[in-house]
Amino acid sequence: MFQNTPQNVTDLHDFVALLEERDELRRIALEVDSHLEIAAITDRVCKGAAGRRALLFERVRGHRLPVLTNLFGSLRRAAWAVGLDEADQLRLLLADELARFSHGSATERLCRLLAEPAWQPQLVATGPCREVVEAAPDLRQLPALHCWPGDGGRFLTQPLVFSRDPETGRGNCGMYRIQLFGRDQATLRWRPGSGGVRHQAAWAKRGEAMPVTIVLGGDPAAIYAACAPLPEGADELALAGWLRRRPLAMVPCLTSDLAVPASAEFVIEGLVEPGASRIEGPFGNHRGCYDSAAPAALLRVTALTHRQNPLFPATITGPPPMESGYLAKLSERLLLALLQADFPQIVAINMPMETIFHGVTLLAVRREQEGDIAELARALWGRKPFSRAKLLLFVDEQTDVQDAQGCFWRAINRLDAERNLLRDGHRLAIDATRLPGRPLALDPAVKTLLERRWSEYGLDA
Ligand SMILES: Cc1cc2nc3c(=O)[nH]c(=O)nc-3n(C[C@H](O)[C@H](O)[C@H](O)COP(=O)(O)O)c2cc1C
Repeated sequence: MFQNTPQNVTDLHDFVALLEERDELRRIALEVDSHLEIAAITDRVCKGAAGRRALLFERVRGHRLPVLTNLFGSLRRAAWAVGLDEADQLRLLLADELARFSHGSATERLCRLLAEPAWQPQLVATGPCREVVEAAPDLRQLPALHCWPGDGGRFLTQPLVFSRDPETGRGNCGMYRIQLFGRDQATLRWRPGSGGVRHQAAWAKRGEAMPVTIVLGGDPAAIYAACAPLPEGADELALAGWLRRRPLAMVPCLTSDLAVPASAEFVIEGLVEPGASRIEGPFGNHRGCYDSAAPAALLRVTALTHRQNPLFPATITGPPPMESGYLAKLSERLLLALLQADFPQIVAINMPMETIFHGVTLLAVRREQEGDIAELARALWGRKPFSRAKLLLFVDEQTDVQDAQGCFWRAINRLDAERNLLRDGHRLAIDATRLPGRPLALDPAVKTLLERRWSEYGLDA
């Protein structure tokens, strides 16, 4: 019997202990380089080497700190990280909770669930992340990775970025990549539409410097929540609290009125002056090419604290399968629960890793009447993250959407372009719920015969 359980994890150290006990983590004692080497090893492991385990690099050239990668690099580990035994529990638990609310859309019900007092983060005076307060913060001490040869420098690749709206006081926690420059400068590359961008615009409008705090580590459920596809108004830290079934402990920042997870490994506090920017990148991305160098918000560090013996978490972005793909697969379960609350005819979904989560979605649906698939496609294109789907492929409820190859084979080869295709600008939907032609299937009697006699044919020896 295991001593550590996913439910008891509160920080990266607990999670490492759990993974070691379950033989899901490898320690690398050989000295390795944070410049390209760690990323290349991790990439190879993500692609199948060493059983795709999480990696703890104990000796990093020129640094005192160990580097942890591929922590969430399997669906099982991603589920354990958020306190579950397996990923599908997320869908089942959330569906049950949403059913408690009788009115409103799935988004409204999720927001009401996450607003419940039981899940709200709680402020405590101090915590492990304050064990060491650096008198002279210096980002150069961090073993930040240079991942791909053409990258513009060293990046924090798994940071939690905290900010708040100056008008409403509402906080945001997102995962945005960060490039480090010298002792005390860092760029924040938040995409248009992200919580960070909205807050930055609101602070700039007031002509005031924006407090931002970057966290590395903490409760793995909070790390997941930072990149979860939550609708606006749903709080990331409350999601982490809900997943853990207990509120997240937060400590006040030293140089601003933000608060951050007490169990973090590192806390980097800083200010973004209105209009302050610096060129960041290039950066190798998950589409398999480099994001070009471009201006990004510039943060000046005001404080740096950490644990006594911190772990430095990092992830590698690149061609799938990669760690972020499994985080996305966990999110697929969350999205399915939300979708089913609004559209009960949706039976299952698959957002293949190869299409970077939002590119293609396969949906198994119970079809009720003529024209309802077109209506469903339009409704999905109207909501995040499906608004970015280049292709929605609908199959009938008997078809296994996890078999993406089978779905494409059936749909593309048999569809009637006049009847089964729906276009919306640059987006396409395929209604493969009722394809023309009689489907091939084995004779049932022969199928039973084969099952009975298979071993007699001697083919498995
Ligand atoms: C490993 C990883 C890296 C990411 N990097 C970025 C990034 O650099 N910029 C960005 O805007 N989103 C990035 N994302 C996606 C955001 O974390 C995600 O969209 C999140 O929901 C944003 O939160 P927000 O809606 O509060 O802005 C990344 C996600 C992952 C898993």
